[in-house]
Amino acid sequence: MTANRIALACAALMLLGVPVPGLAWQAPDPSSLPDDAWGREVRYGRDLITDTPRLIGSEATDPAKRLEPSGLACSNCHLQAGTKEFGLPLVGVFGDFPQYRPREGRVGTLEERVNGCITRSLNGSPLPVDGPEMRAILSYLRFLSIGTPIGTSTPGRGAGTMKLLDRPADPVRGEAVFAQICAVCHGADGAGRMAADGAGRMAGGGAGREAAESAGQEAAEGAGRVGAGGAGREAADDIGPVPPLWGARSFNDGAGMNRLTVAANFIHANMPNGTDWHDPALSVEDAWDVAAFLISRPRPHAAGLEADFPVLRQKPIDAGYGPYADGFDQAQHRFGPFQPIEAARKAGLSTGGKPAKPDPAATTPPGPRAATP
Ligand code: HEC
Ligand code: HEC
Repeated sequence: MTANRIALACAALMLLGVPVPGLAWQAPDPSSLPDDAWGREVRYGRDLITDTPRLIGSEATDPAKRLEPSGLACSNCHLQAGTKEFGLPLVGVFGDFPQYRPREGRVGTLEERVNGCITRSLNGSPLPVDGPEMRAILSYLRFLSIGTPIGTSTPGRGAGTMKLLDRPADPVRGEAVFAQICAVCHGADGAGRMAADGAGRMAGGGAGREAAESAGQEAAEGAGRVGAGGAGREAADDIGPVPPLWGARSFNDGAGMNRLTVAANFIHANMPNGTDWHDPALSVEDAWDVAAFLISRPRPHAAGLEADFPVLRQKPIDAGYGPYADGFDQAQHRFGPFQPIEAARKAGLSTGGKPAKPDPAATTPPGPRAATP
């Protein structure tokens, strides 16, 4: 087929709602929905994802709605309102639930999964499962999955799976990467740049990377200005609000983003903000090391983490907290190298000599997964 005919065939498939491997999906746009009950519900769900602090967070006018104290919106991680390839997209998620959840050791619902992110990624209190906010979030998630048949693998889910390092990821090297590349936006103290009204939310968008590149260059010339604090932020004033990466208003230590493989892949595919996974800005090594620095920083503690993953052999290889059943220590589970742990699991050492089943939790929670960058 000629390139033209391939493009035509892909366009036809996309019109039919068939996901085309290797191509970005056509994310449906809720603004195109009419002003009726469904359209309003879906748009409210979208707003809850992108404008979380104002609607159910620290900035909510009704104190009863302030369920989460963080400076984060869902879309700070589920980029572009949950539609960005390898930006933890929410396209296709609706049909994956209910699903077996290794973290809880039982089948869980989509409502429970959303509350998992609210209590860990936003360090908040769960939404009432039958309340208007949960209904709207589920409506938006269903809307995003229209055209994705249940059980198909959506291209671009998750954050990717880079090559593993054969040494432990190095937070000290990562700190230098952070000072040089990330601090200009996220602040040398990792606290982000809140909007004037106190929000860490973002309009999304792709202008950030260029702004950071020029700002970063300036900072590099000014020898350590970014590391020193204030100057880097001024240089990046046209970037807008940026979410915190650690400290009291960040995700807690039970969140998925606090796992090395999740953070490293997310950063490699998406940071500096505006980066696309086809054209990563960081080397693979820098991404692992800066992620190691990130997960070493102080953040809120979630109670009861030792009860996670009741079936220990299903615990992700990079879970930052014990107990572990495989004889590798916490440092190696947090920073790697992971190959020896994987090899031991394959050999069945953690299952009393029986060969281990393929571990559904080894990278990200189960669900159809696609080819990775
Ligand atoms: C151009 C400014 C900019 C630079 C530089 C940048 N980020 Fe970000 N980062 C953002 C913005 C903005 C968001 C939120 C994106 C959104 O809401 O659409 C974000 C989100 C994140 C998130 C997920 C949300 C959270 O708060 O945990 C992580 C993790 C992250 N960045 C890490 C990094 C790391 C590590 C670097 C350096 C390698 C980096 N970023 C460089 C602007 C930047
Ligand atoms: C600090 C980053 C972060 C924030 C903020 C966040 N999440 Fe998540 N979320 C994650 C990670 C990491 C995963 C695991 C992704 C995977 O399985 O590939 C996840 C998974 C999910 C899933 C399941 C996706 C799947 O592929 O199975 C849903 C649904 C979800 N989040 C909803 C939300 C909602 C709604 C909010 C806001 C109330 C939110 N998240 C806020 C990081 C975040």
